[in-house]
Order: sequence, then structure tokens, then C-alpha cells
Amino acid sequence: DSTKRVFSGIQPTGTPHLGNYLGAIESWVRLQEEYGSVLYSIVDLHSITVPQNPALLHQSILDMTAALLACGIDPEKSILFQQSQTKSAKQKQDGTAGLLTYPVLQAADILLYKSTHVPVGEDQVQHMELVQDLAQGFNKKYGEFFPVPKSILTPMKKVKSLRDPSAKMSKSDPDKLATIRITDTPEEIVQKFRKAVTDFTSEVTYDPVHREGVSNMVAIHAAVSGLSVEEVVRHSAGIDTARYKLLVAEAVIEKFAPIKSEIEKLKMDKDHLESVLQVGSAKAKELAHPVCQEVKKLVGF
Ligand code: ADP
Ligand code: NA
Repeated sequence: DSTKRVFSGIQPTGTPHLGNYLGAIESWVRLQEEYGSVLYSIVDLHSITVPQNPALLHQSILDMTAALLACGIDPEKSILFQQSQTKSAKQKQDGTAGLLTYPVLQAADILLYKSTHVPVGEDQVQHMELVQDLAQGFNKKYGEFFPVPKSILTPMKKVKSLRDPSAKMSKSDPDKLATIRITDTPEEIVQKFRKAVTDFTSEVTYDPVHREGVSNMVAIHAAVSGLSVEEVVRHSAGIDTARYKLLVAEAVIEKFAPIKSEIEKLKMDKDHLESVLQVGSAKAKELAHPVCQEVKKLVGF
């Protein structure tokens, strides 16, 4: 459907974590097949949780690119690009882009491509309300111009921290054991699950309200193995949570093994990664250009 356009973004933190993978990237890969026009942006202009050092930042953008390609993002099917390469040199130099808060810059990006659909995790639904308000506000003033973008909620809504299951898994968590990275070694993954917070009941059940820790593991297990939560719980009858942690770790290791080796391969060809981003950014600019021109005309710049 040529009237539909998907847009989503991810911060360049080097490698995605399990929450990014299950809450975003896995759906991004699926959406490439379902929508004709798809844009994925590495959002390097909100560098709060990413390195400020230019060389480090560049490396982490390339690492994220390698990770996204390894997860199945196909540059023939979607436009994979770097946010800062589509913003003018002037915006970057005077820091106008950086002055915008994360949700406002995100809204600007979504509207810049007249996106109609935005896959988001539960943690970003509020940001989407802002985007929708901005689109509607603009349209009220200047006539129907922007589609009001709809959220696509990913099936795996929120992966929780392994150490504090009341919080989401996040790259900025100072507790290194809380977050599983796609590139973690099998030993690291086992260690993190071993240290995962559970409770005093040893049975495996799914009860996200009263048993957040165990339920988080069940949800992760189901998501990486392609089983339903019910099936996972049924298969785990008679297993105590200590042993169960190792089963979940195994399932995660198995899921990430091929991705991890593909990342290692891709990282050896830096030129290829650079060129994917350059081609993607050129395509993204081409889409944004007429929208910018129209907006300037409507607003009377
Ligand atoms: P983070 O929140 O770790 O800084 P980003 O802001 O770069 O990650 O988010 C990239 C995508 O990953 C977003 O679509 C976001 O909703 C999703 N996401 C991030 N953390 C989680 C999580 N713990 N569970 C599910 N989805 C998540
Ligand atoms: Na986020």
C-alpha cells in the first residue's frame, strides 16, 4: 500500500539489548514485508545515553548498523539511515536539533517523512500522543497536510530489567547485570539470568502483577522460542525457578547465536556499513525534501 509509510528510530548505543530486539527490531523486520515504504533511523542527535566523543559515537552508529542488518533489516526493503545525515549542517552546527527534547525531535522526524505508522514499545506511547497532537494542530491551521500517525504496538510490549522487574530493561541501567545485549557471550547471558531477581515461590507461573520477575522470564522465553506463554508454563511444570533461569538463558543464547556471528562478520566491512547508511540517508532526504518545501510554502517562510 503506497499510502502507508512506517517510521521508527533507535538510539545508537552500539548494540541493541533484548528489550530493543523483542520490543522493536523484531517487528521492524516483519514490517518490511508488510509495508511498501519503511524508514528506520539511527537517532544520533539526542545523544544523552550515547557517547559524546565523535569517534566513539561514529563507532557506535556503525555497530548499531551492523546489529540491525544482522537482525534482518534489509536495505533493499527499508531505508536504514542516520538521523544527523538528513539534518542540515547548520542545524547540527548551531545545535538546533540538539536543543529539541527527545519527543519533539522524534515527532519532527516522524512528520518529516509524512509517516502513517510508527511501531513503538509501550514506553513510547506517550511520545506518540505528542506527534498526533502536533500533526492535528498543523492540519487545523494549514489544512489537511500531515497524516496523523498511528502507533503499531509490538506484541512484546515491555521487557523488564532482570534486576528490578518493576522497571524496563534499558541500555542506560547502571546495573550491568540487568540488561542482556545481543552480543553478550553465552557465559554472560547465563550469569545475568542466574542473578535475575525472582521471588520466594519456586514454581514457574505467569502472573505479571504478583510475580514480575518470573513472569518477565516466561515472557522472554515465549518470545524467543516462538511459543505462547501458556505453552512455556506448561512445559516448565515441575521445574524450579533456579533451573528455569538456565532454560531461559539457553533459549536466548540460541536465538542470538546466528545474529551474533553475523554481527561479527559485518563489523569487518566498515566500508559496507558506511555505504548502507549513505545510500539510506540519500533516499530519506529525497523523501523529506518535498515535505519540507511544502511546509515552508504553507507556513509562509
Ligand atoms: P532505550 O529505551 O533502551 O534507550 P531506545 O529509546 O533506543 O532504547 O528505543 C528503541 C526501541 O526499543 C523503541 O521502540 C522502544 O520502545 C524499544 N524498547 C526499548 N526498551 C524496551 C524494553 N525494555 N521493552 C520493550 N521495548 C523496548
Ligand atoms: Na526508549
